[in-house]
Amino acid sequence: MAQEPLYERLAQRLRGQIQRGVLRAGERLPSLRRLGRDQRISLATAIEAYLQLEREGLIEARPRSGYYVRAASLPAPRAAAAHRAARAPQPIRNPALLGVLDVLGRTDVVPLHAATPALPLLPTAALSGAVSRALRRDPAAALNYAIPQGLPALRQRIAQRYAQCGADVDPDEIVITAGAMEAISLALRTVARAGDVVMLETPTYYGLLQAVAAQGLRVIEVPNRPGSGIDAARAAELLERHAVRAAVLMPNFNNPLGSLTGDDDKRALLAACAAHGTVAIEDDLYGELAYSGIRPAPLRAFDRDGATITCGSYSKMLSPGLRVGWALGGRWSSALLRAKCFSTVATATLPQQAIVEYLARHDFDRGLRRLRRALADNAQRYRQAIAEHWPSGTRVAEPAGGMALWVELPDGADGQALFEAALAKGIGILPGHLFSNRGDYRRHVRLSCGLAWDARTEAALRTVGRLASRLL
Ligand SMILES: Cc1ncc(COP(=O)(O)O)c(C=O)c1O
Repeated sequence: MAQEPLYERLAQRLRGQIQRGVLRAGERLPSLRRLGRDQRISLATAIEAYLQLEREGLIEARPRSGYYVRAASLPAPRAAAAHRAARAPQPIRNPALLGVLDVLGRTDVVPLHAATPALPLLPTAALSGAVSRALRRDPAAALNYAIPQGLPALRQRIAQRYAQCGADVDPDEIVITAGAMEAISLALRTVARAGDVVMLETPTYYGLLQAVAAQGLRVIEVPNRPGSGIDAARAAELLERHAVRAAVLMPNFNNPLGSLTGDDDKRALLAACAAHGTVAIEDDLYGELAYSGIRPAPLRAFDRDGATITCGSYSKMLSPGLRVGWALGGRWSSALLRAKCFSTVATATLPQQAIVEYLARHDFDRGLRRLRRALADNAQRYRQAIAEHWPSGTRVAEPAGGMALWVELPDGADGQALFEAALAKGIGILPGHLFSNRGDYRRHVRLSCGLAWDARTEAALRTVGRLASRLL
């Protein structure tokens, strides 16, 4: 009998190690060069073995990082059925949205509910140095009002960053805000009036539902699909049928799905918005946190008319507490600036200066690479723990970026009951119904994988899995 090729024998050995748990999900495999040296095989054989395991879905290549063991394959949650999401526009009617505030304030729980990278993943020491330096350098300026639009040096940095992903942005059209959330609220206030209809994704981030509720707007929902993102064809149908003033969308890593909408769908969405006079407001908060290392284009990169408003912030990349975000206002920039000025005058000066200081002295890209890698690792490890410890029939989305994990529990489960049971054990998660206007997703929960993978995190995931089984 012909002997198996060398690469297959090597693949078999590694396959066995993965199956026996010697190599665990999220763990990095030896580099190709090291494998070649250790096993005394050629680089080509090592590459072939890894490619074989990659085809089998056991390992994955991460650009500029290496090969990693993937989590056991878990089915993805099902997409929202289009007919369920296609009802007439409705006012925000999910009373649970008010209750989110209670859990966000809890500091006494394992925070699997908070979409924030753990502090060690953020450049905390460098940023506190930047705050001190900014204050020392010019205390009078740091403690005075900034100009309402925001510091020119910061706006220039933001424009440069967008240029790298194909979006031509003029620093003068940027308005600095207190986080992306303020940018989105100002954008809505600028383009819509109470009673107007806005299009949101389903599932969507609960903060967007709250912003829409605060302004008395009505909602129509377009499905976002695990793995493939916003259903652009469905969005076009809805825009055809209803007079929709604005569409608030997360093409780059929807929270809670972590899905990425492809460039063709982004173009189709923009074309449909343009055809119906709908303003696309893009929540690009997670755009820089692609696990592939390739920053996907924002909608703005495809928009030559300045008809979109792209919102972002440093919250998930540097610090959520500094509260520095932005809106790329395009043709709405003067109206946005007025809205900003009339509501909070200007964003706090010192945090803006601190970020300028940080960006001037530190390697932002290096920090981001580290963060992306850690989040990608965490996502795999968390998914593996869910596969091992949660009831069978549980489905988990595989995020392509960001830090949200969307979990669909088996038939008969209740996300709210699991949320309450977990909270009673000192573990924060969020019930799925917060991510829809009408309280859909009763069987879902959302976790954040921003927390470092350690014994406490693993124990918390095991406990929630046990609670989920018991509640069934
Ligand atoms: C999708 C999404 N948009 C906006 C925000 C708010 O971001 P910021 O802290 O910049 O206001 C969050 C926070 O978790 C989010 O997940």
